[in-house]
Amino acid sequence: MTTTATRTAAQIRQEFIDFFTKKQGHAFAPSSPVVPHDDPTLLFTNAGMNQFKDVFLGQGTRDFVRAANTQKCIRAGGKHNDLEDVGKDTYHHTFFEMLGNWSFGDYFKVEAIAWAWELLVTEWGIDPDRLYVTVFEGDASDGTESDTDAENIWKQFVPADRIGRFDKKDNFWEMGETGPCGPCSEIHYDGRTDEERAREPGAELVNKDHPDVIEIWNLVFIQFNRGEGGALTPLPAQHVDTGMGFERIVRVLQHKSSNYDTDVWTPIFDAIRTATGAREYTSVLDDPIDIAYRVIADHIRCLTIALTDGARPGNEGRGYVLRRILRRAVRIARQTLGVDRPVLNELVPSVVESLGGAFPELRTNPDRIATIIREEEEAFLRTIDRGLVLFDEAASSAKNTQISAEHAFGLHDTYGFPIDLTRIMAEERGLTVDEAGYESLMAAAREKSRGKDENDPTAITLPPEALAQLKYKDVAPTDDVDKFHGRPTSAHIRAIWNGTDFDNVVEPVGKRPMVAIITDKTNFYAEQGGQIADTGTIVDVDGDKSTFEVLDVQRVGDYVMHIGRLVDGELREGEPVQMMLHRPRREMTKSNHTATHVLNHALRVVMHDEEIDQRGSLVADDRLRFDFSCARGMTPDEIEEVEAHVNRVIAQNLEVFAELVPLDKAQQIHGLRAVFGERYPDPVRVVSVGVPVPTLLETPDNPDWSNHSIEFCGGTHLDFCGDAKHFVITQESALAAGIRRVIALTGPAAMAAETAARTLEDQLAAADALEGESFISAVEDASREVDELSLGTAARTRLRARLEPLREKVKAIRKSAQAENRGAVVEQARKMADMHSGPVFVNHVEGANKETLLNAMDVIRAKHENSAAMLFSADRDEGKVMIVATVPKELIGKGLKAGDWVKLAAGVCGGGGGGRPDMAQAGGKDPEKIDDAIAQAREFAWEKVND
Ligand code: SER
Repeated sequence: MTTTATRTAAQIRQEFIDFFTKKQGHAFAPSSPVVPHDDPTLLFTNAGMNQFKDVFLGQGTRDFVRAANTQKCIRAGGKHNDLEDVGKDTYHHTFFEMLGNWSFGDYFKVEAIAWAWELLVTEWGIDPDRLYVTVFEGDASDGTESDTDAENIWKQFVPADRIGRFDKKDNFWEMGETGPCGPCSEIHYDGRTDEERAREPGAELVNKDHPDVIEIWNLVFIQFNRGEGGALTPLPAQHVDTGMGFERIVRVLQHKSSNYDTDVWTPIFDAIRTATGAREYTSVLDDPIDIAYRVIADHIRCLTIALTDGARPGNEGRGYVLRRILRRAVRIARQTLGVDRPVLNELVPSVVESLGGAFPELRTNPDRIATIIREEEEAFLRTIDRGLVLFDEAASSAKNTQISAEHAFGLHDTYGFPIDLTRIMAEERGLTVDEAGYESLMAAAREKSRGKDENDPTAITLPPEALAQLKYKDVAPTDDVDKFHGRPTSAHIRAIWNGTDFDNVVEPVGKRPMVAIITDKTNFYAEQGGQIADTGTIVDVDGDKSTFEVLDVQRVGDYVMHIGRLVDGELREGEPVQMMLHRPRREMTKSNHTATHVLNHALRVVMHDEEIDQRGSLVADDRLRFDFSCARGMTPDEIEEVEAHVNRVIAQNLEVFAELVPLDKAQQIHGLRAVFGERYPDPVRVVSVGVPVPTLLETPDNPDWSNHSIEFCGGTHLDFCGDAKHFVITQESALAAGIRRVIALTGPAAMAAETAARTLEDQLAAADALEGESFISAVEDASREVDELSLGTAARTRLRARLEPLREKVKAIRKSAQAENRGAVVEQARKMADMHSGPVFVNHVEGANKETLLNAMDVIRAKHENSAAMLFSADRDEGKVMIVATVPKELIGKGLKAGDWVKLAAGVCGGGGGGRPDMAQAGGKDPEKIDDAIAQAREFAWEKVND
């Protein structure tokens, strides 16, 4: 093997994979997406072992017992978070590749250690004197022992003074707060010069954050599961999970002192220089321009990978981590490199160039990824400059070198500066941020906008140790083939899980709110693939009416848990029972599921966009929700066309076929769309609308198949599409950049929406024939119903368009009515003015509104400019009194102030108000008191005027 710096990064990656696949008999398991599809405990894939979590927990199996690959990982924002180090050091990244090999209950420490050593030293020729290893020292609080096995194995390769023992912070690896874990053994590389090494032994620098003494490979011996409460439980088998930082090993093998000096980064740095016009990268640790290069290069890799795998920038969770990363990069490009246009998106091709060989999915549609990034950049660039000005203000008014919570909140709320960005900018100026204060302002803001928490009473889980116990007790996996037809099934209770222990008898509600029953057979559908669970009952067959109400159904490993409560009698383990579904819920769910498939197909046909891909789906009994990738929204015509397409399929009453097919055969079917990153079982179930599955398989490449809905799916479906009755889209909206959401109805709900739309059409036609007030109220009623009723969105758009001219007509009628009213009020005022004499004028103007009351006042003042005047009017329906008053200068001099005057009058009518001495307005709530108020106001004014 060569030891010179001739290997490229691509070669190194390949040599690792070849060593384990060709030499040590591992299967190659391609990287899973960085967006975990089925693990809510993870923000991003953070280690190669994530995709095998179910195997480690004993919940799943694979066709192989040892595997290797390079896995796309992101460590930002979760338990493992390297974001804060990016740019500042030379060996942390948000996105990185992890080279890994795994044993699933197969080989253990001996082989894992020996092969790691063989690859590093024998194959790659790394100087063994530069390698140090660490082992776990044990932990009393967890009850774990020191890993003397690993230590002894290492002694065969490494002198004892280069083996260190470390505590659980460094040498006990955990995937997240919960999940598989175990002691680990790390290999560290000392890349310092010979003089430095002579001066200070490398062993002293291991795990000390020294930039040249770095961890390169972690060998984890997975033996435990960390449960919700923090306790460790041994797993049914022992596994190996190793992970080597690809960018670090490339640096070692290319003899560089920074990950960024290797060919992994060259194309991206070149692209940054071209796009921004910055001077060349000079590899200096604390040089601001070099820091900017490293941050931008790291972040664009992370963004391109994450977006390709389906994540989108957003305001929460994963999406917000990406938005924060993007905004950091935009800020540094703007401030340090002085760029004022969106440039990050221009770097996407360089990421595809450097990583597309290892991860071909990057080549699928890089333009789309660039567009999403550009839109995000543009959005932040719109506020960034004003935000930077506010930041300057915040920095100069900082007290005790701390940016105030209000400033940090304002930067976030108004200018989109995430708190971590504000913190970095503060650090650059030697300042801190009042983060505790910021958090409480955020909490208050969240509180304001939050509705009530929805508690899910049915959350009961089966942890891995309980699962292992079931296997140990020889409880056979639940046979759930009957779920497809759903008819009542006879079964036996095999286990009763109360959330903590297994019981022999189902405890009644008073003792346990929720219990899970596991039977040998079931016809219930457990929530999966976006389809909601069935509900129903489990009753005993002895006829003593013992009944268990099933409220939720979850699948864990190979078992189906029926979660609910005993409502009558007693049920025991071993007892024969009858399982019965709540049929209407199942029927509606089937109808919505089949319609979801047809919709998915219709979208691609109507929108002429092969890029449309399913991003998420919810199939419930009362609606279906379908999220898909698409750069633009649907036009009203497209919505109508998609509806029409689905309704045609319903009208044709096409048959729905479903069959299990070997995965490799199924994948050949032309036009079949699978969800990227989803792991499909083999054999896989194919659901086809209109074409029998055997026919598809006879000529799998028939181009006609793309005219049909054909999907991999484990859900329940109608036998014939006609049973969906009708299909209506009730909403089409943006979910995130590049993702649209459609909500739709089928069955009676869809027909009701259709009928409501037709009734409204008729109502509008009838309104046309009406006049005056009855026309107005007909149009107002219809407007409200168009807004509030459950209608198809196409129908709603159509109805709104029809309503528009009618509403114009309402406005015109109102305007002319108002004009008439003004005439009458002014006439009344004129008569009053003619009859009046003297310095105090107080009167009630009948039928005036706020506006015409002022018109009346103008008339009075024109004739009696030296009098103090007060006018009242009442709206009896609304229970309102309006009062206006004016006082000429001369009378103000006598002590009559309009403000005081109206206050008195309004007080009598149960209200309040005030104003200037010459002019004031007020309101009251009691029209009955107007006469009284008039009397008192006159008296008050006379007293002042006659003083
Ligand atoms: N899971 C371990 C790690 O991430 C080894 O792959 O370090």
